[in-house]
Amino acid sequence: MRSLIDILELSTQEIDELIATANDIIEHPEAYREKCRYKKLATLFFEPSTRTRLSFEAAMYELGGQVLGFSEAQSSSAAKGESVADTVRTVSCYADIIAMRHPKEGAPLVASMAASVPVINAGDGGHNHPTQTLTDLLTITREKGRLNNLSVGFCGDLKFGRTVHSLITALSRYEGIKIVLISPDELKLPSYVKKDVLKKKGITYVQTRDLEAVMPELDILYMTRVQKERFFNEEDYLRLKDMYILTPDKLHNAKSDLSIMHPLPRVNEIHTSIDADPRACYFRQALCGKYIRMALILKLLEIE
Ligand code: NCD
Repeated sequence: MRSLIDILELSTQEIDELIATANDIIEHPEAYREKCRYKKLATLFFEPSTRTRLSFEAAMYELGGQVLGFSEAQSSSAAKGESVADTVRTVSCYADIIAMRHPKEGAPLVASMAASVPVINAGDGGHNHPTQTLTDLLTITREKGRLNNLSVGFCGDLKFGRTVHSLITALSRYEGIKIVLISPDELKLPSYVKKDVLKKKGITYVQTRDLEAVMPELDILYMTRVQKERFFNEEDYLRLKDMYILTPDKLHNAKSDLSIMHPLPRVNEIHTSIDADPRACYFRQALCGKYIRMALILKLLEIE
C-alpha cells in the first residue's frame, strides 16, 4: 500500500504514466465511470480549500465512487483534542483512501504512518503540495508539450508557497530546466529548498525582485498568492501583499507562447483583464487538477 506525501515518492516514469492516464480520461471519460464503484474517498481538510477538496471529490464521483469527510477542523473531533493519528486510524475503518490537508508541516506523513489505507497529502502548512504539482505537470505537458528545456519563473510568496516548493522539487529532475525566482527579499525561497533541491541537482537559477526584467526569457510564469495565513503579523502581510500585480502592460515583452499559471486562489496578483489572454492557463490548470487526481486515486487503489 502506497501513500503520496512528497512528490519525489513518484518516479518520473510514474509521473509520465499518471499524465498518460489523465489524458486518456480526458479523451474517454466513459471508460472510467465505474472504476471506483463501491470505493470511498475521505477528505479530511483541517484548512480551507476550494479546488483541492472539490476536485478530489469530483474525481472520486467521476470514477463511480463515493465521498465522505469534513472541510474544517472545527467540525471534526480535532476540535475536542483528538490526534491526527487517532483520526486517521478511525477514518481507515470507513474509507478506502484519504486526502488530507493540514496546517502543520508533516501531519499527513504522521497520518500515513497511522492509517491502514493510502493517505494523500493535500497540502501541509508551508511545506508541500504534491497533488498540485501533479496538476501543474499535467498542465505544462498540455500547454507546452514537454517537461524539459523550460525557463520557469516563480513570482510572489516563494517562502510560504508550498505549491512552489513541490513544483521546483519535481522540475529539478528534468533536463534543461532554468528556475527564475522573483520575490521580495522577505519572501525568498527557503534556503533548504535551494540547498537540497536546486544546488544538489545543479539546477541553474537566478533570484531577482524585478519581474519585468526577466519576463522576456520565461516560458512559464507561475504566479502565487502571498500566504496571509502563514504570517506572524498583519503589518508585514499588508506591506508585501500587492508587491506583484500582473497587468497586461507588464506582458509587453513576454514571449507570445508564455504560459501564465497560478495554483489559485488569486487575490490581487493577476489582474482579471489577463484572464482573456490565451496565455492565461490557470483555469485550464484547475480543470487538470480533477483529471490527474482521478489518475492518482486509480494508481493508489491499484485499479487498472
Ligand atoms: C494552493 C495551496 O493551498 O497551497 N491552493 C491550491 O491548492 N490550489 C495555493 C494557495 O493557497 O495560495
